[in-house]
Amino acid sequence: MPERTPYIAANWKMHKTVAEAGEFVDALLPRIAATQHDVVICPPFTALSAVVERRYGTAVKVAAQNMHEEESGAFTGEVSARMLVELDVEAVVLGHSERRQHFNETDEALARKVPTALAAGLEPILCVGESEDAREAEQTDAVLQRQLQADLAEVEPGRIAEVVIAYEPIWAIGTGRTATPEQAQEAIAFIRDVLRERGAEADRVRILYGGSVKPGNAAELLAQPDIDGALVGGASLDPDDFAAIVEAA
Ligand code: PGA
Repeated sequence: MPERTPYIAANWKMHKTVAEAGEFVDALLPRIAATQHDVVICPPFTALSAVVERRYGTAVKVAAQNMHEEESGAFTGEVSARMLVELDVEAVVLGHSERRQHFNETDEALARKVPTALAAGLEPILCVGESEDAREAEQTDAVLQRQLQADLAEVEPGRIAEVVIAYEPIWAIGTGRTATPEQAQEAIAFIRDVLRERGAEADRVRILYGGSVKPGNAAELLAQPDIDGALVGGASLDPDDFAAIVEAA
């Protein structure tokens, strides 16, 4: 089975000014200097350049938290893949549940965003995950399958391994209620099966868990055979906590 390099991403959401982002990176870099993992920071658009400039010559990659599927046009408030690439951004979070819920990001838009990101040379970090109601109704697998099929519909099977998938159960995001390692492993193994059926080289795809990952629970989650990394929200705002999660992987 191919080695999958662990992938630990800090999703800052709407946190940190340029000055705060700079302080964070300066504090983080010495703490993770020896890591062999992929360490990814996802700042708000305004702080992308500040993080990009500080991480040159390090292992840290930078991801945006969203992008529009069109190349340009009358889309007030949006940014395109090409605008991100120009800043030396390497990746982009797509389909985060907060964007699906509050900003009406649809599977139809995602079906265009994922191939657009790939074509531009950005690594998509595609988020999928079920609501609490769906889990209680035992619809978790159905939701994951539907999202993956829709959002990856326009991606050739041979390129699916270039997409990073983040399994983020909505009930675990920002709630302090982490999925158990068994629940996360089960869902992520299912995602891998769906990708395999879609014709992907599924053993190469990095699949992350996200939802209340903290220094105290990261090691047992990341020890699961199919969990290749973490998408960290709240605990990624503190360089000590985030470095501890990188170390746990
Ligand atoms: P959380 O957020 O770690 O604060 O639960 C995770 C995410 O939304 O990516």
